[in-house]
Amino acid sequence: MAVAPVSVPGHIAIVMDGNGRWASKRFLPRIAGHKQGVDVLKRTVRSCALHGVKVLTVFAFSSENWRRPADEVSALMDILVVALSRELNQLKKDGVRLQFIGSRQGLSERVRQSLDTAERETADNKVITLNVCFNYGGRWDVVHAAQLLASAGEEITEESLSAKLSTSTCGDPDLIIRTGGEMRLSNFLLWQAAYSELYFSEVLWPDFDEAALEAAIQAFASRERRFGMTTEQLPASKNASA
Ligand code: FPP
Repeated sequence: MAVAPVSVPGHIAIVMDGNGRWASKRFLPRIAGHKQGVDVLKRTVRSCALHGVKVLTVFAFSSENWRRPADEVSALMDILVVALSRELNQLKKDGVRLQFIGSRQGLSERVRQSLDTAERETADNKVITLNVCFNYGGRWDVVHAAQLLASAGEEITEESLSAKLSTSTCGDPDLIIRTGGEMRLSNFLLWQAAYSELYFSEVLWPDFDEAALEAAIQAFASRERRFGMTTEQLPASKNASA
């Protein structure tokens, strides 16, 4: 596949929204949308790697998703475990490092083991890191980081708190994409989003294809990131690409 030489975000984060509506439009159960969403995620990881993206962070299950009907929650847990056991070998071949971000509390032993195995077996992979936010909330992340600092008696500064966030090894996302037409963060990476470029797509996640990803990357390339400075202060190379 030919990939256009645009400025590519090193770290993309995605709120994969719209699975339920995609399924309803087809008179299918919501879970069919989530299953299709897994296939789209697989393709997106591959496309991001081809574009040279080094980190992809996706919101798969929020702290608030426990409020969904019990059968949907349990189906989402099953989808995760099945997808991990089915895809692990291919992910290893493709050089994908998997990391799960979020609280392990409340997850079953079966789910926890499946996350641990996938993390352990892909730990040395270097092509792209896929962070799957599971049982994650941005407020939880900040509170958890502050608790770690407080219990260690460490001073709370922007740097020390950032270092304790669940994404500390990957840095902040350059680009946050939300599919499905809604325009909010829904408790995703709240601290880390401080200087991220935001991109909202009408496309429902199960329809998010290469062209939709390309459009998001093109939009990112056209933005000027000033990080509080003026245009004149930016080095030429930072203009529209930093
Ligand atoms: C939001 O769509 C989507 C989710 C809450 C689940 C996202 C999960 C996947 C894409 C499955 C793949 C992930 C893994 C690794 C398990 P929605 O259900 O809120 O859609 P709606 O807004 O149309 O109702």
